[in-house]
This record gives sequence, C-alpha cells and structure tokens, in this order.
Amino acid sequence: MHDRLVVVPSLLFLTSLTVSQWIDYPQTGLATLTHTPLPLDYIASCGCVPGSTHYPTAALSQLAYGSNNSYGPACGKCFSLTLIDPLVASPPFKPPVTTSVVVKIIDKCPFTNGGWCGATPHETNAGGASLNFDLSFPSVAIPDNFFPSNPKLYGYSDFGVWNVSYEEVSCASSWAGAHNSEALGSVQSLGTSACCPTDPLGTGTTCPSYSEQNATPPNTAGVNNASTVKMPNKFSIFVLLVLMGVSILSY
Ligand SMILES: *[C@@H]1O[C@H](CO)[C@@H](O)[C@H](O)[C@H]1NC(C)=O
Ligand SMILES: *[C@@H]1O[C@H](CO)[C@@H](O)[C@H](O)[C@H]1NC(C)=O
Ligand SMILES: *[C@@H]1O[C@H](CO)[C@@H](O)[C@H](O)[C@H]1NC(C)=O
Repeated sequence: MHDRLVVVPSLLFLTSLTVSQWIDYPQTGLATLTHTPLPLDYIASCGCVPGSTHYPTAALSQLAYGSNNSYGPACGKCFSLTLIDPLVASPPFKPPVTTSVVVKIIDKCPFTNGGWCGATPHETNAGGASLNFDLSFPSVAIPDNFFPSNPKLYGYSDFGVWNVSYEEVSCASSWAGAHNSEALGSVQSLGTSACCPTDPLGTGTTCPSYSEQNATPPNTAGVNNASTVKMPNKFSIFVLLVLMGVSILSY
C-alpha cells in the first residue's frame, strides 16, 4: 500500500527525462558562434521567406533548434549575439570594441558528433557550450569587418569560432528586417512544411518540432513484426507506463 505512492511518481519522472531529447536553454547565456555564407534568397530549413536573408540570420545547432529536419521551435526567434573572444588565438585576442548583431533563426545547423553543432542535453561542444549559432556570413546584411581582428599581429583576420553571449529578443523591436514585410513570415507555397513566425518572443507563437510530429518509424525489418513497434516513441512509452502502473496498483 505504501509502496505504490512512491513508485508511480518516480516512474513518471524517469519517463519525462527519457523523452526529452532536445536542449532546453535559458533566454540568456553563453554560446559559441561559427559563420558560414548562405546564398542570398536561399530558403533554409524553417521555410522563412527569401527576403529574410537580406537581413542578419543564423542557424541554430540541431538539438537546440528542436527538430531533426524541416522546422523546429527555434524558427523565427531573434537573438542578440555579442562577441566575447575567439576560442583559438595565440596570444589570446581581446576585442578592443564590443560587437553585437541581432539575428533571426532561419536554419538548422546539423548535428555532427563532436562538431560545433554537436551538443546534446548531456554533452557540450568543444567550446563548452550547449548552443552554437552559425551566423550567415559573409552577408549583404553584415559589414565585412564585423569580426574584430588584428591581421598585422596574427597574419590572418578570421579567428573562426568565437565565444559569445546571447539574449533572446523581440524581433519586432530589434531585428533589422522587422519593418520589411518581404522579410517576414514563411514561404506560402511550402504550405505546412514551412514555419517561420514573425516574432516568437513578442507574440508567443512558436513552431512545433517537425521531426517529433512526423517521427520516422524505427526500421524494424526482420526484428519484430508486432504492431506496437510501429507506434511513435512517446506513445509506446506511455502504454508501458500505464501497464506498469496498473501492475503496481494491482500488486
Ligand atoms: C570560451 O567559453 C568557455 C565556456 O564559457 C570557456 O571555458 C573558455 O575558456 C572560453 N574561451 C576563451 C578563449 O575565452
Ligand atoms: C533526432 O535525431 C536524434 C539523433 O540522431 C535521434 O536520437 C532522435 O531519435 C531523432 N528524433 C526524432 C523525433 O526524429
Ligand atoms: C515480418 O516482416 C518481414 C519483413 O517485412 C517479413 O519478411 C516476414 O515475413 C514477417 N514475418 C511474419 C511472421 O509476419
């Protein structure tokens, strides 16, 4: 009688931990910043309109982005990124000025094991960060001398990866593209496979996780033909939980 009161809640707790595969991050924190050029007018993973690429944009590392393909909860969000220092510079480089940019997330930075976008809920990337922003750069939206450097001392001007601080901000009040309707929203012809809210923090509208809603069934060929293996993960865990709960209660 006493036991079931303890066992059932702890099972529930365990299950919620097991199911969380994405990185939950605070609205402000530290991250790493890489940069990759994105073709102008390119329609990236979120399905944001081509005009968005005329303003500062970035991709967010996959497990913080919140989906393995197409759109995720990070789509459309705006972040103010402030450069701290480059990860690799000898001697260490301290930027003489404070440099910030407000980006809109329009893309997913693919997960690779050990890569800058490879942080998981349990492991940070090589820079000790759970989030990596991949800035679309060079870009018509950002001055070419955005990253402070000292080519006379170092012999090059691109330090590569930077430590940054980030803060989620309202797109409407902070993003450079906020007042151009051609830079806002999702591509209509993509229908339900695009999701790019105009201002997630301001309006509270965020995208669901595409890959979670359209979970690929596990490859069960030759393993087990029982119908339960084709159920989405969460549902089968739920069924298991109910069955366990029932057996504990009846015990
Ligand atoms: C970058 O940030 C990480 C995590 O905060 C820190 O451990 C590391 O020392 C920083 N690197 C530099 C070069 O400041
Ligand atoms: C997303 O990808 C990760 C890593 O490959 C995998 O563990 C997870 O099951 C995938 N989730 C969905 C919903 O597809
Ligand atoms: C199980 O599925 C495999 C692959 O679809 C099929 O070849 C096999 O005949 C099935 N076995 C049973 C017992 O249904």
